[in-house]
Amino acid sequence: MKFGIIGLGYVGLATLCGLAKAGHEVIGVEKDQPRLRRLMSGHAPFHEPGMSEVLQDYADSITLTDNTADTNDVDYLFLAVGTPSKEDGSCDMTFVDAALSEINTKQKIVIRSTVPPGTTDLLSIMYPFHTFAIVPEFLQEGRALADVLKPNRVVIGSENLEISEELAGIYGRLGVPIVCTTPINAELIKYASNAFLATKISFMNDLSRLADKAGADIATIADGMGLDPRIGRSYLNAGLGYGGSCFPKDMNALLNVAAENELDLPVIRAAIQANDEQIAYVASKIEHRPNLRVAFLGLAFKPGTDDMRDAPSITLANHLRLREVEVVGYDPLAKWEYRQALTPEEALKGADVAILVTEWDELVNLKPEAFAGMRTKRLIDARNAWKYARDPEDVEYEGVGRMQGKTNTPSSK
Ligand SMILES: NC(=O)c1ccc[n+]([C@@H]2O[C@H](COP(=O)([O-])OP(=O)(O)OC[C@H]3O[C@@H](n4cnc5c(N)ncnc54)[C@H](O)[C@@H]3O)[C@@H](O)[C@H]2O)c1
Repeated sequence: MKFGIIGLGYVGLATLCGLAKAGHEVIGVEKDQPRLRRLMSGHAPFHEPGMSEVLQDYADSITLTDNTADTNDVDYLFLAVGTPSKEDGSCDMTFVDAALSEINTKQKIVIRSTVPPGTTDLLSIMYPFHTFAIVPEFLQEGRALADVLKPNRVVIGSENLEISEELAGIYGRLGVPIVCTTPINAELIKYASNAFLATKISFMNDLSRLADKAGADIATIADGMGLDPRIGRSYLNAGLGYGGSCFPKDMNALLNVAAENELDLPVIRAAIQANDEQIAYVASKIEHRPNLRVAFLGLAFKPGTDDMRDAPSITLANHLRLREVEVVGYDPLAKWEYRQALTPEEALKGADVAILVTEWDELVNLKPEAFAGMRTKRLIDARNAWKYARDPEDVEYEGVGRMQGKTNTPSSK
């Protein structure tokens, strides 16, 4: 079959690579010229394992273009453009609208972008000549291609039985559970999944503040809770809170959709508030002092990616910079607008406090000697992940929710 993909970001490019690997002919449309040039040279424009290799190995079945009309003869057209937050937190549909307005032949359109509940039904009314389905994407950055090749489930939302069945046939080859449902259910499954994970994180962060005050260890609590299969251990790590291009915007969009339906979602609202408070809480661990210098170990919103969209490092840096704290950062891949060091040691040199912001392997395994160049050897482990926490030697160590400088025992994980 022949597929078109509009928008070659994390989701679009992963979709394109997955379809190419499955033996299909694919046409990818990307409007951002530097991104398109990089793709045409056979390289992914961001850090994602395996994608550049697919672009090179399957070059014969991949066409890259900036012209949507080149997709006129495809069997299916996948839409994977961004849906960022507007100022008021609602979902900005500008890219979706613009992409659809450029499609000038009757198409079977599969929406892969995260869109508010009701969108696919609305688009079916606005563009009656196309047939729409929504297949929300659940990939995690840093392992986007692996997740597309082996997702934990595929959700297909369409009012058109024929299309649902055809898509179930295409995705059926992955051998994973498939949920065929209405578009609005599919849209809400995506939002609910992200909101649930974000809320799990906020729940533990709330408790980490209590653990700090009460003299308990949140990592041990998480281990104990996680043994209950109804709870599970994943997403129970307390720390600096969630960030990235999805959770913050999707939480806000969900609140906004609720408001449009004259509803409040108090759990979601509280989870957002707890996330904001957690970053301020970590910032508050650093005292007011003139000429204070803080080294961030890690900048990306999570390890394995160079994506800085809505990274907690930026919010944390803004908190500190408001107090005229000098901030320098190191990350193996990600870049930011503030001072950046080329090695952890360079970032730590002359710093008064180090904050472990992103739990990259390289950073959680930093030996105590790496902190030797600091003015005062103090580490705030904002991810509770430093491997030497049990035996910090001469580094003054403090985790989040880990008994505030008492016996900081790391989790058994
Ligand atoms: N990044 C993730 O981890 C992830 C996971 C699941 C779902 N999603 C959702 O998928 C969607 C895309 O996310 P992303 O992170 O891949 O976004 P992205 O910003 O990385 O990529 C979107 C791409 O679309 C391109 N584009 C915009 N308008 C276009 C047009 N008219 N024609 C051609 N190209 C166009 C942009 O230039 C950009 O390269 C969003 O709705 C997001 O919420 C993202």
